[in-house]
Formats: sequence, C-alpha cells, structure tokens
Amino acid sequence: MTTRELFFRHIAQTSPAPLALEIVRAEGLYLFDADGKKYLDAIGGISVCNTGHRHPAVLEAIHDQTERYLHILVYGEMIQSPQVAYAQLLATHLPASLQSVFFTNSGTEATEGAMKLAKRVTGRTEIVGFANSYHGSTQGALSLMGDEYWRNAFRPLLPGVSHLQYNHTEDLEKITEKTACVIAETVQAEHGVIKPSEEWMKALRAKCNETGALLVLDEIQTGFGRTGTLWGYEQYGVVPDVLLLGKALGGGLPLGAFIASKTLMDAFTENPVLGHISTFGGHPLSCAAGLAAMKVLLEEKLAMQVAEKEKLFRDQLVHPNIRSVRSAGLLIAVEFDNFETNKRIIDACLSSGLLTDWFLFARNCLRIAPALTVSLSEIVEICRLIKSKI
Ligand SMILES: Cc1ncc(COP(=O)(O)O)c(C=O)c1O
Repeated sequence: MTTRELFFRHIAQTSPAPLALEIVRAEGLYLFDADGKKYLDAIGGISVCNTGHRHPAVLEAIHDQTERYLHILVYGEMIQSPQVAYAQLLATHLPASLQSVFFTNSGTEATEGAMKLAKRVTGRTEIVGFANSYHGSTQGALSLMGDEYWRNAFRPLLPGVSHLQYNHTEDLEKITEKTACVIAETVQAEHGVIKPSEEWMKALRAKCNETGALLVLDEIQTGFGRTGTLWGYEQYGVVPDVLLLGKALGGGLPLGAFIASKTLMDAFTENPVLGHISTFGGHPLSCAAGLAAMKVLLEEKLAMQVAEKEKLFRDQLVHPNIRSVRSAGLLIAVEFDNFETNKRIIDACLSSGLLTDWFLFARNCLRIAPALTVSLSEIVEICRLIKSKI
C-alpha cells in the first residue's frame, strides 16, 4: 500500500476531506511534496512557524539537546536547563506580574491549567468566555468554545461556563464576584481576525479588578510577534493575570504554557500538593527548540518588520470581489461572499502551489499567517496568486 492509502486507513481522520498533501521536506517558507511539487506556505502551520520551517538555529538547538537528554522525569521535579533558560528569557520580556511559567504540551492544556489555577486561587467556580472564541479542544477548553455547533455534540461540558459578546462593553456587567476568571483571545483569530477596541480591553481589565476575577489572555495565535509587538496585549495597555502561549512557543515542536505571578502559581504546590501535573509538559527538546526560535525572533527583530509587511499585504489585496481585509499584523483574513467562493479560491491556490486556509468561525474568510520571515517579494507573489484565482 502507498503511504497515502495507509494514511486513510490508519491515521484517525478529522474531516471527510483532509488536504492530504504528502510533505517530505519543509524549509523556510516552503513545503515540498512526494512528487517534488513546491508549495509557498502562507499559513506557517497556523501561526506556529514564526521563524520559518526548520530554522538552522532551531535545528542546531534540537541537535545539541539530543546529545544531552530527552525525557527524564515528570514536569517540575528535575532542574532542566532548557526549561529554566526559556522561562527566564520569557520572563525578561514579560512584566513583573508574569514571571512564573508552567510549561504544557499544547495550547489546550495551557487553557486547562489556567482554568484550574483560577478556580484554585479564587475559590470560585464560574468561568466566563466569549462568543466565537477558540481556546482548544479538550473538554474544559471546549466548554469555552464560543460556538454551539462545535461544542454541542460533546455535552455535558463544564458547568458554570458562560459566554459573553466579545467587544461589547455592556456584557461585561455579567462578570461578577462569583467569576473565577475571564478568558479572552487578545485578537479573535478563528472568528476571522476580530480586534477588540482598546476601550473594551481596558474596561474588561477594570471589571476583573473590580470583581476579583482573573483576566486570562489567550495569545496562543497572537504571541511571538505575530501582531507586530512581541505580545498582542501590549497594544491595548493592559496586562493579564494569566497569559496563555502555544503554537510558535515551541519553534515547531509541541509546547504550550500558562504564565502568572509566582504568588498565584504557588497555589498548585499545596492542598492538594501537585495541583497540576504533566508527564511531558515542557519537554527539554521542545524548550530547546522554542528558546532558539525566540532568540532568532528577537535577534532578527522580526516583530518590528511586521507592520511594513502587513501594509504591503493590505496594499496588494485589493480586488472588487474581496469584501474586506482584516489584519492584526501578519494574521490576516481576506473576506469573500461565502464559503463556496472562498473554498474555490483556496483549492485553486493549492493547485498553483500556494497553501492557505479558512477560519473555524469565519468560513468565508481566507487565512494568511505566514512565517514572520516572509520576504516582501514573497508577499507580492502570495497576493498575486490569490487575486489570480478570484
Ligand atoms: C487561540 C487559540 N487558543 C488555543 C488553541 C489550542 O491550541 P492547541 O491546538 O495547541 O491545543 C488554539 C489552536 O488553534 C488557538 O488558536
């Protein structure tokens, strides 16, 4: 049997029509399939590969770590230098209230950990999320999923979870002294790149302060320079109590994290002891890779180039059949009339060697989220290809 046939037979499928490209190599902005076809990757593994596929510095860090050790013991017991060095670098670039890092394996686990931490430190049980938000697919994170279609089949989910309208100030009144935490994306990615107003974000912060609810900001897609600043929240003049990271955090290897103050995080150490545990969380290989990727991001000042690249995309993405372009740095949604049009364009782009995608809650929008290393000429080429398929 071919690898393709085995894929359909033995790999659990998540949709009736997976892309099913058989990729044999990836480098920088490009993917190569088994037939030697080259694809320009305009979505970077969905906001994962911010420094491109297989950056040499990331490969070197992985190689070095394989010479030392892989898994040794469950998270938190041993002093593992890749974890420590990465947590220290993150802390250097975060405010004084976000200095304690709990590394997980994925974004959804970061969400789960933050929900538990909020319940533990506040002694409250209610959790507030938002319509059209996505925080992961495990049952706690799924309870926050802001769309009934995606969560309904898996009920019962967590009790005490409610959903407010994103960017609606009046709805913030529903946050009360029973609320353990409010979890929001800094920019709603899967809703098709919806940015809140600064006033709303500040009002959300103020309401959390007033009620004692923790503010958890999910930067799993918006972190690591994607929106033009290292963290998306910097553009809103607020600081969360808990920050969720994932995707680009691992430099291409699986890694997530929730980050809070040491005072909050210490709640996991007693009553019960081992309040949150993980076998593989903060795997040394993933931390070594992520640390190297973050150093590249900082050294090459990639976040500082995002505004210019975003502007070029916006200048190029002009066409009578494009209804709108929404962007938060290099997280871009190109809106068409309906899903059918969008899908036809996505498929045509793929045939011509350009990989794009749609959004979970904005199926009429085409996703562009390339590596931040994308060059100006590659941006022009991505836009030219898209426009040629409209
Ligand atoms: C905003 C946001 N939060 C959480 C997650 C979940 O991350 P993971 O797929 O690593 O569990 C995602 C994944 O797409 C995401 O986009």
